[in-house]
Amino acid sequence: MPTPTRDDKFSFGLWTIGYNGTDPFGGPTRPHLDVVHAVEKLAELGAYGLTFHDDDLFAFGSTDAERQAQIDRLKAALADTGLIVPMVTTNLFSAPVFKDGGFTSNDRQVRRFALRKVLRNLDLAAELGAKTFVMWGGREGAEYDAAKDIRAALERYREAVNLLGQYVTDKGYDIRFAIEPKPNEPRGDILLPTVGHALAFISSLERPELVGLNPEVGHEQMAGLNFAAGIAQALYHGKLFHIDLNGQRGIKYDQDLVFGHGDLHNAFALVDLLENGGPSTGSGTTGGPAYTGPRHFDYKPSRTEDETGVWDSAAANMRTYLLLKERAAAFRADPEVQEALAAARVDELRTPTLGSGESYDDLLADRSAFEDFDASAYFGARGFGFVRLQQLATEHLMGAR
Ligand code: GCO
Ligand code: MN
Ligand code: MN
Repeated sequence: MPTPTRDDKFSFGLWTIGYNGTDPFGGPTRPHLDVVHAVEKLAELGAYGLTFHDDDLFAFGSTDAERQAQIDRLKAALADTGLIVPMVTTNLFSAPVFKDGGFTSNDRQVRRFALRKVLRNLDLAAELGAKTFVMWGGREGAEYDAAKDIRAALERYREAVNLLGQYVTDKGYDIRFAIEPKPNEPRGDILLPTVGHALAFISSLERPELVGLNPEVGHEQMAGLNFAAGIAQALYHGKLFHIDLNGQRGIKYDQDLVFGHGDLHNAFALVDLLENGGPSTGSGTTGGPAYTGPRHFDYKPSRTEDETGVWDSAAANMRTYLLLKERAAAFRADPEVQEALAAARVDELRTPTLGSGESYDDLLADRSAFEDFDASAYFGARGFGFVRLQQLATEHLMGAR
């Protein structure tokens, strides 16, 4: 069984392992998890990082002294274990003041308060050496069309992110922002619901280079989308700044299952993409890791579990990732897979459709492209063999090869 090491860059949110089982139908099933204990256990299990929301570490409304005491306890635990804080994020969704959102609340005073909360948390992120600042706008949205002017809300979102970009630039912080899309929950409809929506929003910003994405497996799948394909597009645009790994079974509430406990085929494709650059026979331009940042798990240990179950599930995330990495390597090394990839012409897609310097006039003059091209030969012949490839992937995934 593969054992996680710090080099694997596995990180966990304090709110993940710290989830006490509360859901809309019942209260906690587990006691509070102390941050120092969390850091010690994660270090023991082979993780390299802990992430948190401000309110995970010190309760909303803490005095300055209470806040500082918790920061100091965290710092001591990090120093003791060598764990780092690669990412910090802000809770703009739990407190009643944020019931209509933070950056996009209809109430201007709330928006100003939200900005102040985030600026303060950015200072803490910089102090702890975090390189990524995640923004998940779970309450930025609405239930009723008449209640929210979406264009105004996007403009306020933009105003907020532009201000934060200005702030880190002026302060000289080495921090980039990662927007985390989600289609719904807790709001009926959330602004920036998918990777694609967020990419369009980022291109409207004053400093787009400072802002990328933190896509979450389950969030795209809640919208019925292909997560690995969304990640490939984020990579294509140079915007995969961070990632939230977990499991989701279909279009329903956000399950936050252990990574791989949802769509295992898609998880396999995802790990192959992150670790090896996606499908290729090796002769193409891909082949190395497409992403080198933290492998961050944003899951919830089910409320049925006790503390042993919490740590078992944390370890399960890492084990599944490493096993998929092994399976992906075996898949690529298999000569039959190489042959099937070649037969499926996967690499050929990397060849430009036009020759170098070829104009549309040249294309129009090329009889072999149209007049002499035998399109009818594709009827009943010239299949691509994609199903064979998927079956080979399945057999590798099952450990049968
Ligand atoms: C969710 C989100 C959050 C965010 C977190 C980081 O659906 O609850 O995934 O867990 O990742 O708030 O900002
Ligand atoms: Mn989630
Ligand atoms: Mn998340």
